[in-house]
Amino acid sequence: MTVVAISKQKGLDVERIRADFPVLDQKVSGHPLVYLDNGASTQKPSQVIDVIKYFYENDNSNVHRGIHTLSQRATDRFEGARKTVQHFINAKSEAEIIFTSGTTESINLVAHSFVRSSFAAGDEVLISAMEHHSNIVPWQMLEQQIGIKLKVIPINDKGELLYEEFENLLSEKTKLLAITQLSNALGTITPLKKMIDAAHAVGAKVLVDGAQAIAHTDVDVQALDCDFYAFSGHKIFSPTGVGVLYGKRALLDAMPPYKGGGDMIKVVSFSGTEFNELPYKFEAGTPNIAGVIGLAAGLDYVSEIGIGVIAEYEHELLEYATDKMLAIEGLRIIGTAAEKASIISFEIDGVHASDLGTLLDSQGVAIRVGHHCAMPVMEFFGVSATTRASLAFYNNKADIDALVAAVNKAVSMLR
Ligand code: ALA
Repeated sequence: MTVVAISKQKGLDVERIRADFPVLDQKVSGHPLVYLDNGASTQKPSQVIDVIKYFYENDNSNVHRGIHTLSQRATDRFEGARKTVQHFINAKSEAEIIFTSGTTESINLVAHSFVRSSFAAGDEVLISAMEHHSNIVPWQMLEQQIGIKLKVIPINDKGELLYEEFENLLSEKTKLLAITQLSNALGTITPLKKMIDAAHAVGAKVLVDGAQAIAHTDVDVQALDCDFYAFSGHKIFSPTGVGVLYGKRALLDAMPPYKGGGDMIKVVSFSGTEFNELPYKFEAGTPNIAGVIGLAAGLDYVSEIGIGVIAEYEHELLEYATDKMLAIEGLRIIGTAAEKASIISFEIDGVHASDLGTLLDSQGVAIRVGHHCAMPVMEFFGVSATTRASLAFYNNKADIDALVAAVNKAVSMLR
């Protein structure tokens, strides 16, 4: 790993960092690419791409199955990656790190293993009004299938969670709080530690959706004391198709497997099957081996820069971007929480988000338009879609200036 993109005095060396991301060095529609769709997926540094290429060129083989050299090397790298994840989020044990296909699968694992096996009709799952669909729909499915009750913590006009309402909703019936750490549609950071402690006080367990937060803030699952933490590789400069479910060991031990197949068993016979130990009990089938190895390279990359340095830099960039965007006539930012990171969702009077997105793309600016898989948030703010610019640490003020210029030009064409 050859990243030394910080200087203690100057903070991030963004130009140096940008050079690590080959995809950023291109033109789109004749304009230099300005990539501001990091909430949807982040770009990958050469350090990640090279590790995956090396794996396929040298070590490619299945894991946990062969005694031949390649399989042993692949297994060592795969299990080494588990340790990297463990250290990145400060889990107590590598047995608490389950590899999944992404945050969505991690949440579904909790829903269909933990909740399905231990909740009764009437038990309550508490979420917030700013959740992504993947932290809404699995609970609605279980409402229909086993009769749990879904309760929703409301938000205010800034997109902040109403903490008193949360406290009012908590009761001995609350068995799970499933909550985002950072809203993908609004950028709101939730008061996680306080909420986890309050949920534990009524005996509820807590699942954190860390899909957006993982690349922007320090995550220490022991300090948070959350019971489960879910995130995706592709939101943190790593491959798609790989994610993580962290769970406290005692909970994971007591949970039944979620999928059956190879690798999650010790013994199979027609008279019954003995399941494997953690973490393999939850990893049926051949995993995304190259993806997992790539994820470890992505986390190493971030660790070497330092998530604290990244968060500080992005905070300054968000403030710069917010001021510049608010100077655009008729622009309203949706999501103005006091505690916010990385996301600027907005609408502009008289301008359709999809028209704006198309015109921005024609100027090389990549943003996302739509409901951001958070339709209830759109409903709350009375819009069908927003335009969303989402930042990463390789973005700079020039990107923001290019976005503002492109928005102004598009608006002058659309009005
Ligand atoms: N959840 C992703 C987003 O926010 C896809 O864009």
